[in-house]
Amino acid sequence: MALITKKIKGTEDVLPKQSYRWQFIENIMREESRAYGFREIRTPVFEHTELFARGVGQTTDVVQKEMYTFDTKGGESVTLRPEGTAGAARAVLEHALENEGLPIKASYFVSCYRYEKPQAGRLREFHQFGIEEYGTQSPVADAEIICLAQSVLDRLGLGDVRLELNSIGCPECRANYNRALREYFSQYKEQLCDTCLSRLEKNPMRLLDCKSPEDHKIAEGAPRITDFLCEECESHFREVQKYLDSAGVEYTVNPTIVRGLDYYTKTVFEFVTDCIGAQGTVCGGGRYDGLIEELGGRHMPSLGFAMGLERILMVMDAQGVEIPQPEGCALYIATMGDAAKLKAFGLLAQVRRCGLVAETDVVGRGLRPQMKYADKIGAKYSIVLGDNEIAENKAKVKNMQSGEQTELALDDTFAEKFSVLHLSDAAAFKI
Ligand code: HAM
Repeated sequence: MALITKKIKGTEDVLPKQSYRWQFIENIMREESRAYGFREIRTPVFEHTELFARGVGQTTDVVQKEMYTFDTKGGESVTLRPEGTAGAARAVLEHALENEGLPIKASYFVSCYRYEKPQAGRLREFHQFGIEEYGTQSPVADAEIICLAQSVLDRLGLGDVRLELNSIGCPECRANYNRALREYFSQYKEQLCDTCLSRLEKNPMRLLDCKSPEDHKIAEGAPRITDFLCEECESHFREVQKYLDSAGVEYTVNPTIVRGLDYYTKTVFEFVTDCIGAQGTVCGGGRYDGLIEELGGRHMPSLGFAMGLERILMVMDAQGVEIPQPEGCALYIATMGDAAKLKAFGLLAQVRRCGLVAETDVVGRGLRPQMKYADKIGAKYSIVLGDNEIAENKAKVKNMQSGEQTELALDDTFAEKFSVLHLSDAAAFKI
C-alpha cells in the first residue's frame, strides 16, 4: 500500500514504545523545577509575528531565516514559536503576573519550529524544557537557575557535559564592544558573507556566531567582550561565579559564548557535550534584563534557560544511560465465549482500579493466538476464562514466568487477592 504522504523533513514521531523515555526525562525536569519553586506555564504554539521579531531580534538567524510565518485568513501575520521565552514573557505581561509578587517563576515544555537545515540533533520541530524568572537582578538568581539546570542533567545521569559561562554585559558595555567589533571586522569586509556584511553596522555581535567556517575563523581573532565590561557588569559576573563556586558547580569562562538571540544581557551560559556531534549544546540560557521593556512592560530584569529534549535523549543514548521501563501488563485474561468475555470485562475493571495494567482480547482471536499475544506484551499473569470457570466462579491465575498456578475466586475479592499475589512475586519479576 502506498502511503499518501510521510512526515515532514526535520520532524520526528515519538512512538508508543519510545514515549516512556520522554516521560522519564520530563518527570525529572518537572520535579527539579518544582523543587526550585517554578510552576508550569502553557502558552499558544503560535503568536503574532511581531512578538518574535521584537523579542528575539530582527538581526538574528532565527528571525531573518528560520521562522515559520504565515498570514491567516483574516490577514494577520502569525509565527509558530521558534522558542519559549518570548511567548512566556508576553503572557506574564498580558496577565500582569507581577501583581502576584516578584520574582515570577515559570517553567514550560514547548514544541518549537525553526526552518534550519536538518542534521543529527538539529530538527525543524523540536522540544524544549525551559524555565524563566522575572523581576530579579541578583546574581544569586543567575547562579540558582544554573544550579537547577545542572541538577536536572545530574539526575538524568548525563556525564561529560561541560558548563561554559560568559557575560555579554549591559547596553553600555556593549556600545563600546560593538565599536571595537565593527573596527575589527571592517578589515575583513571582502571576505565576510552577505549576512555578516548586512549585520556589521546594526549588530556586529551576531558576526561572532556566524555558521560559515571562513567567517568563524575571522571571528576567532575578534576582541573579547570580557575586556569591555563596565564595573557593575564585571562585579555581577564575579558574584555569579562566587555563588556557583559555593554550590560546587564546575564551569569554564568562555568569552566567545554570545548566544544566537538578541535579548541577552550580562550572564550567558551553555551546557555542551562532544558525544553527539556538531550540535552538542544541550542547554542554553542567560539573563535578558531589557526584554520585558522591549515588549511594552516596565523595566524587569529577568533570566532563564532552555534544554533541547531530543538532544538530551541523544546524549543518554550515546552514553548508554538506562531509562527504567514502566510497568507492563500485570494480567491478561484470555476468554472463550460471550459469557467469559463479559465476566472478564468486570474483573479487568476491578484490577485496573487497583492501579495495575490489565488487558483482554478485543480483536476476536481464538485462545491460542490470545495466549501468544499475552506472551508478546510480556503479561506477568494470565487467566483462561471459559464456561467451566464461570460455572465454578473460580479460575487459575498462571504466573507466565514460572508456570505456577494459583486458584482465585471470581468475586468482589478478586482484584485484592490478585494484587497480593502480584506483589508477592514482585521480586521475581524485578518490579
Ligand atoms: P536556544 O539556544 O536557541 O535558546 O535553544 C535552547 C536549546 O534548544 C538548545 O541548547 C538546544 O538544546 C535546543 N535546540 C535549539 N535549536 C534546536 C534544533 N533546531 N533542533 C533541536 N534542538 C534545538 C533558546 O531557545 C532560549 N529561549 C533559551 C532561554 C530561555 N534563554 C532564556 N530563557
